[in-house]
Amino acid sequence: MLGRFLKDNHTVTTDCGVDRRNFLVGTVSTAATPLLARTDQPSAASSAGGPSPGAPVDLLLRVNGSDHRLALDSRTTLLDALRDHLGLTGAKKGCDHGQCGACTVLVDGRRVLACLTLAASMRGHEMATIEGVAREDGGLHPMQQAFIDHDAFQCGYCTPGQIMSAIGCVHEGHAIDAAGIREYMSGNLCRCAAYPNIVDAIQAAKSAMRDS
Ligand code: FES
Ligand code: FES
Repeated sequence: MLGRFLKDNHTVTTDCGVDRRNFLVGTVSTAATPLLARTDQPSAASSAGGPSPGAPVDLLLRVNGSDHRLALDSRTTLLDALRDHLGLTGAKKGCDHGQCGACTVLVDGRRVLACLTLAASMRGHEMATIEGVAREDGGLHPMQQAFIDHDAFQCGYCTPGQIMSAIGCVHEGHAIDAAGIREYMSGNLCRCAAYPNIVDAIQAAKSAMRDS
């Protein structure tokens, strides 16, 4: 069963109650067990019929409207799957701990932190990354255009995550006013402090998205 919880306005998705943090805690606990005990007893994962840590898992990931078949270590995050295995490097690895929002992508239209999400939990879901938001004719998404028009970035490192989060924020109906935008974009940090211009861009894109 799919489980979800919110962290900084982003949905963290788990499959069968397994998220990256819990999975790694389980792995660390196993590693801390004395060697003799580990060799005498089957691991909790294998006795439960689940994948062993490190075992490749066959996956079909649907990203930006295309299917990708991969065999990945079951501990691979969605962020590493996108960047290292699919060559989609738009989502950035800022903190790798769910604190900066640079890795934000959309899963079934909702904002997700790809660094906290296991790729193996993404079977059957539709993912969108910054590489997939432009129009088919090559025109920019209204949010991309608004970020340019309002000078809403400086170094640009946080920008793909900001734009994906902003699109999610508008679709969720949270971009009602500047205060709402600031609150619901608070999970996306910008070290260049482009925040005022980001808020202006989202307000402008909101109407353009409605009209498009
Ligand atoms: S890299 Fe995912 S939240 Fe920072
Ligand atoms: S534009 Fe540099 S971190 Fe946001």
